[in-house]
Amino acid sequence: MAIAAFDDTYVQDPVNPRPPNFPQVAGWDQIPAHVPRELAFNCGLMTGTEFLAAPHNFMAAMHQKYPPIVYNVTESINYWIATKHEDCLFVLRHTDIFSNRDATPFPRDPNDYFFFIPIEIDPPHHRKYRNIVDPLFCPAGVAKLEGHIRQRAIDLIEGFAGKGECQFTTAFGRPLPVSVFLDIMGLPQDMRSTFVEWADIMIHSPDPAQVGVAFGKAIEYLKRAIAEKKSNPDNGVISLIANARIDGRPLSDKEVFGFVCFLWIGGLDTVYATLNNIWLWLAQNPDRVQEIIDRPKDIDSVVEELLRRYSVTFSGRIVMQDVVIRGVQLKKGDRIQACLPAANFDPDVFPEPLKVDFNRHARRSWLLPSACTAAWAGTLHGWN
Ligand code: HEM
Repeated sequence: MAIAAFDDTYVQDPVNPRPPNFPQVAGWDQIPAHVPRELAFNCGLMTGTEFLAAPHNFMAAMHQKYPPIVYNVTESINYWIATKHEDCLFVLRHTDIFSNRDATPFPRDPNDYFFFIPIEIDPPHHRKYRNIVDPLFCPAGVAKLEGHIRQRAIDLIEGFAGKGECQFTTAFGRPLPVSVFLDIMGLPQDMRSTFVEWADIMIHSPDPAQVGVAFGKAIEYLKRAIAEKKSNPDNGVISLIANARIDGRPLSDKEVFGFVCFLWIGGLDTVYATLNNIWLWLAQNPDRVQEIIDRPKDIDSVVEELLRRYSVTFSGRIVMQDVVIRGVQLKKGDRIQACLPAANFDPDVFPEPLKVDFNRHARRSWLLPSACTAAWAGTLHGWN
């Protein structure tokens, strides 16, 4: 099968988006010549039985099992994986070498393409989009939401407190991020169960047709909501984005939709997965729960450490120019994943990485944009 060549003429235009045309190779017979065979493995990241059985133990073990820069060979796509903290920082901080285009795995209609904004936008345009929502998502902005988020959490807990137990994922883990998302976006709470259903199907259904239907319904709903907020603006984020201007011009429909849609996807499964992991650990370690209660002043370190230990997101990038990392030659057009959870288990940065240590002062943890950390301090992601 012919592999698309790297399209040097492609220019990212968020106003008139076209699908980026980067080479996509898959399988053992499509390993490029510059990849040394001793670095090529089918790691089983995200899909293998070992990973699915214990994802965080799997990612911690990658530091012993694989070279720090490994070439992951899979049936659907081949890509480099960086597991060392230092190398992941290098990938995330060198936007001149590593592009965000094609950074998310969500399929879109090539004839009706849009970028997920801001995550798929490279500098210099990226900052212009961030400026629109930063006042809300910066630490000070999210701190203003804390009381509201806490009340949403209390309302849910009071819903099952009398029973003395609950099914955490359905009673709290899923509805809380969706409720808060609907509030932030300016959407009605009576859409909560519908959004939960769409999110579950879109991110977890093995049936692409079912995913397509759910995504289609969500697109239709969000487009109607955007049109409504254009004619009747309010204080929600959809209205903020729908009526925003960049360089004096209004955002195009594609920009507004790509932005709103990504905020929906970016904020749902990440929080849900993080809450579930952390609450399972709390349920299994009642003595540590008492320790948290006994040291309220350390809540930020406690949250940072639990977000490090149970991190859930990965960052995909396209290599835009030949580069050598740890003596390994990567070539323009290759794909690389900064495996953030594995980086948070880097023993050179986090000694005894699997240990939950609230004294670790894991201020180095760069897993989350600060806004998210502050947002969820009161309570607590695959690229799959
Ligand atoms: C525990 C929950 C969360 C985790 C672990 C998480 C993690 C991340 C990570 C690692 C990135 C960088 C991805 C990259 O550059 O490849 C990111 C970006 C982003 N996240 Fe989150 N996130 C969480 C919750 C949220 C929430 C609740 C929202 C909003 C409602 C959100 C909105 C975004 C946005 C807009 C970006 C793109 C930022 C940019 O491109 O500048 N995230 N998130």
